[in-house]
Amino acid sequence: MKKKNNPAPLSVWRPINIDRFIIGVPHYPEHVDESYWERDAERMAAAGFNAVRMGEFAWHIWEPYQGHFDFDLFDRAIAVLARHGIKTILCTPTATPPRWLTMAHPEILRVDENGRQASHGSRQHADTTSPVLRDHSRRITRAMAEHYRDKPDVIGWQTDNELNTTTSLSFSESCAAEFRKWCHLRYKTIDALNAAWGGDFWATHYDNFDQVVLPLPMAPGHVSPGHRQDYHRFLADATAAFQHDQVEILRAANPDWFVFHNLGQLEDIDFRGQFGEDLDFIGFDIYPMLYDEMRRTGGHAYTQALQLDICRAYSGNFIVPEQASGFGSQPTFSTMTPEPGEMRRMAMSSVARGADSLMFFRWRPAHFGAEIYWMGIIDHDDVPRRRYEEAKQFAGDIAAIEKHLLGSSVRMDVGIAGADFDNQEAYRTYPMGLPSPLEDGLLLHRTLYHRHVATGFIHPSDDLSRLKALYVPHFLMWDDAWTENVRRFVENGGTLIVSAMTGTRTRDNHIHRELAPANGLADLLGVRVEEFGRIAAPESDGLFEPPGTDAGFRASGVKRLPACSAGRRYLLRHGNTTFPASHLYEKLIVEDDVEALMSWGNRFLDGEPAVTMRRIGKGKAIYAGTYLTDELTERLADLLRDDGVLPLLPDAPETVEVTERIGANGERLLFILNTTDEPASVTLAAPATDLLTGTSHSGTLELGAYGVSVLQP
Ligand code: GAL
Repeated sequence: MKKKNNPAPLSVWRPINIDRFIIGVPHYPEHVDESYWERDAERMAAAGFNAVRMGEFAWHIWEPYQGHFDFDLFDRAIAVLARHGIKTILCTPTATPPRWLTMAHPEILRVDENGRQASHGSRQHADTTSPVLRDHSRRITRAMAEHYRDKPDVIGWQTDNELNTTTSLSFSESCAAEFRKWCHLRYKTIDALNAAWGGDFWATHYDNFDQVVLPLPMAPGHVSPGHRQDYHRFLADATAAFQHDQVEILRAANPDWFVFHNLGQLEDIDFRGQFGEDLDFIGFDIYPMLYDEMRRTGGHAYTQALQLDICRAYSGNFIVPEQASGFGSQPTFSTMTPEPGEMRRMAMSSVARGADSLMFFRWRPAHFGAEIYWMGIIDHDDVPRRRYEEAKQFAGDIAAIEKHLLGSSVRMDVGIAGADFDNQEAYRTYPMGLPSPLEDGLLLHRTLYHRHVATGFIHPSDDLSRLKALYVPHFLMWDDAWTENVRRFVENGGTLIVSAMTGTRTRDNHIHRELAPANGLADLLGVRVEEFGRIAAPESDGLFEPPGTDAGFRASGVKRLPACSAGRRYLLRHGNTTFPASHLYEKLIVEDDVEALMSWGNRFLDGEPAVTMRRIGKGKAIYAGTYLTDELTERLADLLRDDGVLPLLPDAPETVEVTERIGANGERLLFILNTTDEPASVTLAAPATDLLTGTSHSGTLELGAYGVSVLQP
């Protein structure tokens, strides 16, 4: 398993830069007696695994007291595994600073918004903005890198573990001091900071950088959007700097190692900035069943598809360092449990959506600690059962498709603008009870997922040429440079759909002084927003849960309060029919060559254009002066279909997942995955061979419960 080259620039179309599909498990040899190790390695090899990941929570073992390093346990574990052909990926263990460190330096502990200092006893208790923690992180990383630099059985590294997943926030004194330094570097003068944050509003003016405070939420009222945005930019920069220290040391020790990070929630991580540029590829931990019992998730098959499509937008193909295998729990919750065949189906769904390597979490469950019922591939009694057999089967599947897979990227006909840190944060500075760009975009994503249209997320500055349509959901901060990119896309035949509130704010979170959408978009679309107003959310009277409801990847679980009264209703008119609009209306001024695809259907707006279209070159530029509802989404999806945006497999049932990966030479791999325990059948457009079984199919393809098929036409 070798790194092939340095990573290409970040793009949704980028494959990963290693020459093999890594398959294996996160492994914790420190949790069992050494007498288990040989049998573990034999069983892993017999399952077809080629690697394990180790060490992310073992700082206390690597360095039992300050400056004394001890590599024995992991050296022996690595050697046993290597004898059975299993390579090791190591982790920097900085998610769990040991007790001697938190005793000596309590100032590295996070402080929450109520002033409560984190205690020792769980994980991610230390604050990555702390210079003291950074010193110690460099020390442990350097010691490990130097020890392993010439050991061929260590093939790569994961930095830390799911940075910022437990929490990304800190309001400690040390964090405040670092924030002040960051502000000083960014703004140079206090006048510039006051201008950006709007110091003349509510006397939030500062006389010098020493006076600058952290934006404590609701203490007692709302802070300026500029202030809040900069706190989150600072946290993201600090997270990137924390990781950068480690990457620099690892790369200097051995440039052949690949380095990645396993992301969880993406809180305060700007993956398209330095954080992502520093890495060879992204790792994304996938636990779809965590969200099954939240309202409106659409089920775990859809949640997984959504999360992986969001993740791919940052940097293209990824690895899955942790793929859920069985029942999962921490003391306060437990997840639904994959049924027989479902673990393999979920793993194949990850591959279908861009995973170029995958590890099942975890080899065996722990017998102690805060995850005693988080099951692994083998059981507590050390007996391999159905999950082991499925993992083995999956390893066989990968062996059959690996050579077609590596180097390919996931087909996307429709892109939804995403992967932009500043826009996600800009929304959160001032959510107003409106859906976030992600909450809005996922309505289109979910509709197209069920229609089997190849859909994903993409940054507006990425290569758009392979898309047929691009939807931009409420990007408050729109860049000039992106306008040129989308203009080219439309001129060459693409359909662009831009929705309400896009291009309304500057990078400082000020409202533009011209009518929206700003920065060239109004000229492109032929539309200006003269007035906007609130419409109640579906089934609500306009009341909503307080800011913070939007939880990044958990967006599909958004909760709104049930209806108390009818609220004020606005209708959209499309042809001869009307249907309710939601969240926001915009009153548009349109140029002469712009036509109305839909108009407002009642009240004072009756007859005014609501969804407009301008033909440019070979394509179309559409503006929607409102937010998506299920019905509006269906209608937009129909318009796209009429324009030739077609399903990958027209008659497949909704519960069958269909995706395509396309190789550099145009070779196609069609993944057809049954997400239910009921048999399903699909009709193939042309004869094809199932690479997993070697069987040829034409006409109808039958899939058993959780059946998977990878077809080559
Ligand atoms: C991940 C984390 C693992 C383990 C797993 C199951 O988020 O990286 O260490 O906790 O979840 O809870």
